[in-house]
Amino acid sequence: AALAEQLGLMHYMDVMMLITAVEYVAPMSDENVTVTDTEFSNVPIRLFVPRKPSDGLRRGVVYFHGGGWSLGDAGMKSYDRLTRWTSSRLNAVVVSVNYRLAPKHHFPTQFEDAYSVTKFFLQRNVLSQYRVDPGRVCVAGDSAGGNLAAAVAQQLLEDSEVETELKAQALLYPALQTLDVNLPSYQENENDPLLPKALMVRFWSEYFTLDVSLREAMASNRHIPSESSHLFQFVNWSSLLPEEMKKDHTYTSPTYGRPELAQRYPGFLDPRAAPLLASDARLWHLPLTYVLTCEHDVLRDDGAMYVGRLRAAGVPVVHHHARDAFHGALMFISSPAELAVGHRLLNRYIKWLDENL
Ligand SMILES: *[C@@H]1O[C@H](CO)[C@@H](O)[C@H](O)[C@H]1NC(C)=O
Ligand SMILES: *[C@@H]1O[C@H](CO)[C@@H](O)[C@H](O)[C@H]1NC(C)=O
Repeated sequence: AALAEQLGLMHYMDVMMLITAVEYVAPMSDENVTVTDTEFSNVPIRLFVPRKPSDGLRRGVVYFHGGGWSLGDAGMKSYDRLTRWTSSRLNAVVVSVNYRLAPKHHFPTQFEDAYSVTKFFLQRNVLSQYRVDPGRVCVAGDSAGGNLAAAVAQQLLEDSEVETELKAQALLYPALQTLDVNLPSYQENENDPLLPKALMVRFWSEYFTLDVSLREAMASNRHIPSESSHLFQFVNWSSLLPEEMKKDHTYTSPTYGRPELAQRYPGFLDPRAAPLLASDARLWHLPLTYVLTCEHDVLRDDGAMYVGRLRAAGVPVVHHHARDAFHGALMFISSPAELAVGHRLLNRYIKWLDENL
């Protein structure tokens, strides 16, 4: 991808998107689940409806795939499996959302697509059409999808038009902030093969713009203007990480950058893009939360800090920290790239939903 881009042939993300295309599988129903590609609120979705006739109402899951807001598809083999198994094992209607992607679309489009699908599904008449219990609906997602799930859950609390409350949110190695991309987890996993720091910084900056000056400023952690210094308390790993996760890192105060970037691209300071930046008062009424973090992941500390902030705000949280796992492990649940760790993380997440949704 880097070579094609250097030669001026294709944008990096367009080359990467070929992987998504190769992994694509058509919607196919099986003995347990009816699978269709359709739309909710003009946003494409892949819908999984259990076949088994059930006496009572079913559960509902709105799922957002990962891929740095630029890649991925609900129809990728691994996402199709993940959501299909969720549907069949939980007897749940699963709505897997194909929100629009960068580099063609930028924030807030991804968020708005995610939000409008969730809001559409949460309408009483829609839930009842799919025989879903309004008391048993959650949002979930991995990586950039975990970011969208967290942002959607926050925004729903402030929307007086939504009458159904979420029962839970499940955030699987989510990306939650752009303020500090030099956290201990970024330092330790800078050269992680699946998600190196440089790629994460690129995903973040291209969520907002293709202007490389934002990417360069982020890469050197000099993109936050001093006027926004009050936000650093929300990503202060020195106070928010548990002792054992600080290891032997030394906290240094933030360095500030030029104010024009934040004026031009205010998205990176917006809690709808960076849910960790929400004030405590906005976290109070969030639903029961499941957070998966992986040891070998630049995003590890994002998830761990959100756990700390949610707990301090009185939100019940289950934190599964997988010491032997890496970012993206949930993608490795189908051949030819099938790993035990992927199945283990997936089973644990589905079991938690089964017991809590
Ligand atoms: C359907 O569900 C049964 C029971 O849970 C399971 O054993 C079987 O593998 C499922 N079929 C598919 C195609 O996933
Ligand atoms: C971060 O937390 C540490 C100690 O917990 C504190 O000394 C420091 O001032 C904080 N920095 C910011 C920018 O909030």
